Amino acid sequence: MSDADLIAFSRRFGDLDFAPVQENGQRFVAGHPEIYIVSNVLGPDGQPIGSLGAGEAVWHTDMSYLKKPPKASMLFALEVPETGGDTHFSDMYMACERLPAALRERLAGLRVKHDGTYNSGGYVRAGVTPTDDPRTAPGQLHPLVCRHPETGRRMLYLGRRRNAYIEGLTLEESEALLDEIWDFATRPEIAWRHHWRVGDLVLWDNRCTMHRRDPFDATARRVMHRTQVKGEVPPAA
Ligand code: OGA
Ligand code: MN
Repeated sequence: MSDADLIAFSRRFGDLDFAPVQENGQRFVAGHPEIYIVSNVLGPDGQPIGSLGAGEAVWHTDMSYLKKPPKASMLFALEVPETGGDTHFSDMYMACERLPAALRERLAGLRVKHDGTYNSGGYVRAGVTPTDDPRTAPGQLHPLVCRHPETGRRMLYLGRRRNAYIEGLTLEESEALLDEIWDFATRPEIAWRHHWRVGDLVLWDNRCTMHRRDPFDATARRVMHRTQVKGEVPPAA
């Protein structure tokens, strides 16, 4: 698929969000602001042609630092390493169901800040002055437990662990509660692992899943093109 094909296919699911901007203030593909490139490959200028490098990309939801995060993302594999770089998806319905009842009740009505400072590769986003104080870091508040707007099912909505902060709690209380919840959200029993082949297209519901990527050999090439379908304000459960 060309980028134009990927965009046309993605539009069958709704209007598309533009990709986040890079450090240099530009998007990845001239003329196609919808395309986000995930890659460790260096371009002629010595700069990476995409985001996230070759290290681990930690568990996250795409672009949940926005008021209206994308409802779906699609990732198309153009070049993949022999080993490593697998992508894992975890089920936030299951994570919610598996919480002990007392813990789930404690979460009702709470909102969590989805950090806008760092991306999942640990890189600072364009135009942001990095801070590691979750209370003051820029980000968007969303309900911790949301109701999926289409299925009506309850799900955990966490975004990212780094710089996350639960509104109204002390930093210590927030960190302890988040650690407790994240433990349920990242267990292998509720995750699925994708080993990529060239030409694979993976589409995920970005509301009720999180994903992460394994690191891979930095001297190998990995090139993935992504689109993201516009979503709505995540409704509280
Ligand atoms: C993404 C992402 C991980 C990967 O494109 O949103 O997190 O496996 N990608 O490249
Ligand atoms: Mn992602």
